[in-house]
Amino acid sequence: MELELQSLEKEARQQLEALSDSAGLEEFRIRYLGRKGQFSTILRQLGTVTTDDRPRLGQLANTVKEQIEALFAERQAAINSSDDQSEDFSKFPDLTLPGRIPVTGKLHPVTQVMQEVCAIFENLGFSVAEGPDVEQDYYNFEALNIPAHHPARDMHDTFYVSDQLLLRTHTSPMQARIMETRQPPLRIIAPGKVYRCDSDITHTPMFHQVEGFLVDRHVSFADLKGILTVFTQKMFERDLPLRFRPSFFPFTEPSAEVDIACVICGGSGCRVCKRSGWLEILGSGMIDPEVFKMVGYDPEIYSGFAFGLGIERIAMLKYGIDDIRLYYENDQRFLSQF
Ligand code: FA5
Repeated sequence: MELELQSLEKEARQQLEALSDSAGLEEFRIRYLGRKGQFSTILRQLGTVTTDDRPRLGQLANTVKEQIEALFAERQAAINSSDDQSEDFSKFPDLTLPGRIPVTGKLHPVTQVMQEVCAIFENLGFSVAEGPDVEQDYYNFEALNIPAHHPARDMHDTFYVSDQLLLRTHTSPMQARIMETRQPPLRIIAPGKVYRCDSDITHTPMFHQVEGFLVDRHVSFADLKGILTVFTQKMFERDLPLRFRPSFFPFTEPSAEVDIACVICGGSGCRVCKRSGWLEILGSGMIDPEVFKMVGYDPEIYSGFAFGLGIERIAMLKYGIDDIRLYYENDQRFLSQF
C-alpha cells in the first residue's frame, strides 16, 4: 500500500503539472480527490492492513492527499487567474493587430475614361461645360439645323418625354446652349449621358459622349484633324491609324466620321468592327453657317469645328472589350478589373 501511495502521488503530481484549463482541473478533481477518487479508494483499503501498520499508513495517506490537495488549489488559482487575464484582454482592442483594410469602391471604367478624355482636352485649352439630360426639342434638333420632319431625326431613335421634351440623343445641344450665351473665341468640351433606343454589341440605350467645339476666326479642318490626332495619340499612348470618312450631320459642313483601327482584331476584321477593321469613335465637322446664324454669330467672321466622341467605344478600344453591354451589367468580376 505504501508503494501504491507513492506511485499515486507521483502520477498525480505529473498530471497536475500538465493541467492547463478549468475542464482539466475538474477532471483531475473527480479522478483523484473526489469521493470515488483514487485517494479515497486507497484510504478505504486501510481496513485491510494490520493494526500495527494502520496508524502509520493512515497518516501517510492523509499527508499525501493533503499535499496533492494543496498543489491542486495552487494550480486551480493559477489557471483561474490566467483565464481572468485573457478575459480582461478580450475587453480591449488589440492595438498590435494589423488593421482591416476597408473595401473601397472604384470609379466605373466609363467614368475613368471620361475623366481621362476631359483631362486631355483641358490640357489642350478646352474648358468643361455641362447641360441637362432632359433636353428641349429646340436645342437637340432645331438649333442644330434639324427642323421638324427633317429625315435626320430618324437617325436618332429618340426617347420623348413629351412633345417638346426628350432625353438628349447627343451632346451637340451644348453647342447651341453655349454659343447663344457666349462670344468667340470658344474652346469647350461638354461631357455627359445621352440616350437612344438602340442596343447591340456596340450600342447601348444610354451611353456617354464628349462634345467638343472650337470657334474663332480662321479655324480650318486642318485644326480639327490636328486636335483629334493629338487626342488619339494621348489617349492610346501610341500612333494608331485614324480614318476621316466623309459623312453627314445637318449641323456641320463638311462632316466626317472618324474611325480608329480596331484594336480587338488589329484591323483584320472581327465581330466588334463588323469585319471592317475600323471602329467609329466620333462624328465631327466644320460648324455649319446656319448654326452660327441661329445663335447670332456672323459666319463671315467666325468659323469653327465640332466633334462628338463616344466614350464607351473609346473605353472598348482602350481595354480591348468586345461587347459594350458588359459595362452596364453590374458584374463585379468585370468591373473590378479596371
Ligand atoms: C453624333 O451624335 C453627333 N452629335 C456627333 C457630332 C458632334 C458630329 C459634333 C458633328 C459635330 P453619332 O450619332 O455618329 O454622332 O454618334 C457619335 C459617337 O457616339 C459615335 O461615333 C459612337 O462612338 C457613339 N455612339 C453612337 N451611338 C451609340 C450607342 N447607341 N451606344 C454607344 N455609343 C454610341
